[in-house]
Amino acid sequence: MNAPAELTAQQAAALAHVKAAEKAATQIPVAGDVEPREIRRAAVIGAGTMGGGIAMALVAAGVPVTLIDADDAGLQRGLQRIRDNYDGSIKRGKLDDATRDARLALIAGSASIADVKDADIVIEAVFEDLGLKQRIFRDIDQHAKDGAILATNTSGLDINEIAAVTNRPQDVVGAHFFSPAHVMRLLEVVRADPTADDAVVTLMNLGRRMGKVAVYARVYPGFIGNALFRNYNREAHFLVEDGALPHEVDAALKDFGYAMGIFAVHDMAGNDVGHQTRKAQMATRPNDRRWNDLIMKLVDMGRLGQKSGKGWYRYEAGDRTPHRDPEVEQYIVDESARLGLTRRPISQEEIIKRCVYGMINEGAKLLEQGIALRASDIDIVYVTGYGFPAKRGGPMYYADQIGLANVYRDIERLYAEYGYWWKPAPLLEKLAASNGRFADL
Ligand SMILES: NC(=O)c1ccc[n+]([C@@H]2O[C@H](COP(=O)([O-])OP(=O)(O)OC[C@H]3O[C@@H](n4cnc5c(N)ncnc54)[C@H](O)[C@@H]3O)[C@@H](O)[C@H]2O)c1
Repeated sequence: MNAPAELTAQQAAALAHVKAAEKAATQIPVAGDVEPREIRRAAVIGAGTMGGGIAMALVAAGVPVTLIDADDAGLQRGLQRIRDNYDGSIKRGKLDDATRDARLALIAGSASIADVKDADIVIEAVFEDLGLKQRIFRDIDQHAKDGAILATNTSGLDINEIAAVTNRPQDVVGAHFFSPAHVMRLLEVVRADPTADDAVVTLMNLGRRMGKVAVYARVYPGFIGNALFRNYNREAHFLVEDGALPHEVDAALKDFGYAMGIFAVHDMAGNDVGHQTRKAQMATRPNDRRWNDLIMKLVDMGRLGQKSGKGWYRYEAGDRTPHRDPEVEQYIVDESARLGLTRRPISQEEIIKRCVYGMINEGAKLLEQGIALRASDIDIVYVTGYGFPAKRGGPMYYADQIGLANVYRDIERLYAEYGYWWKPAPLLEKLAASNGRFADL
């Protein structure tokens, strides 16, 4: 009878941790007397999914925006999507006509990068391609005014390599928004090696002005959020090859507290997101470790997710409810055989451990390398940007509750069994040995 009350106390403590983490994230390592730069006007380059959302988030905070795309067709598409988005909000009773009109009036469109000239901050959101982004930053460098912040919304490219093509690398910073950018609260503020303190502080402040939770990170593949996500995602797919079916993995994650399981999320986002990048990486990836290509095979089979009526699940027309699909389940079983894997029943406990402990181990690596400042920063990234259940406090907090010695023991066991991806982070090993906690670092 005591269990529910006990659980509630634990959950309350976790929620209090999340609240405190949000506050702690505002403290960043810059000289005390840094004056933020003034942001009166912004330019956003790339009027796609992210650029449009970022523009909407900026004008909602009262910052006028020039939205720039490569040509007029791209621009008009982007502007129309913004109008459709507002109209959708009006239909749902979330916005009134006057507010929509006021916000639209703050968005100017352009097909010329020279129009960044009046912006105090330029946020680039073109395709995820380093060469293209470098070309855009050379152009921005030509036209932006002195002292403008030059931000990139890259999901994980090396921002040092972007900063290096400009004559003002101190002004270049990562502004990693999440999709949809006018809704999602998380903003990773990514400091590159040359980024000036006041550029970082200005972006942190602007993030807060936009109602975001701004979290400081350093350059690292995927920064904080996507670095952990890689581990979560990889294990979920390995679990499916090892014997679990998508609905079993998703059910375990939902029981843990996620609103949606990862395979349902893939189907919602589209299994083709990142497909080209993944395909391109296949040629050069090291073959001393296990990889997972199931999602690429699903795309090749036309199983893109909700939009094609089938993915990891099947969907009825006009309905987003995932239904088990014997066809894809048989395919998965056949794939395991083809890979020489003997499928076995997999418990909920194993599903959670493999999905969550991989994130914890990666989080420890980020902390020891200074990519993330605090364990609580990783927690807040996960709770605000990746749907990690707030009542669990975030992956690092969750690890502290289980006890790092326990987490470490399991990770060692997983390393012995599965190798490469599970190599324990030295920091985790050290804390486990000294009865330490991430929270005390
Ligand atoms: N979609 C996401 O969930 C997400 C989340 C976080 C970050 N990101 C990152 O945001 C960036 C944009 O992603 P997206 O999903 O919005 O892509 P998208 O394809 O929806 O939009 C990209 C836009 O850039 C425009 N563009 C391309 N070349 C251009 C040029 N030379 N000049 C001006 N505009 C140009 C395109 O016309 C298009 O409108 C990428 O770096 C991506 O990694 C995406």
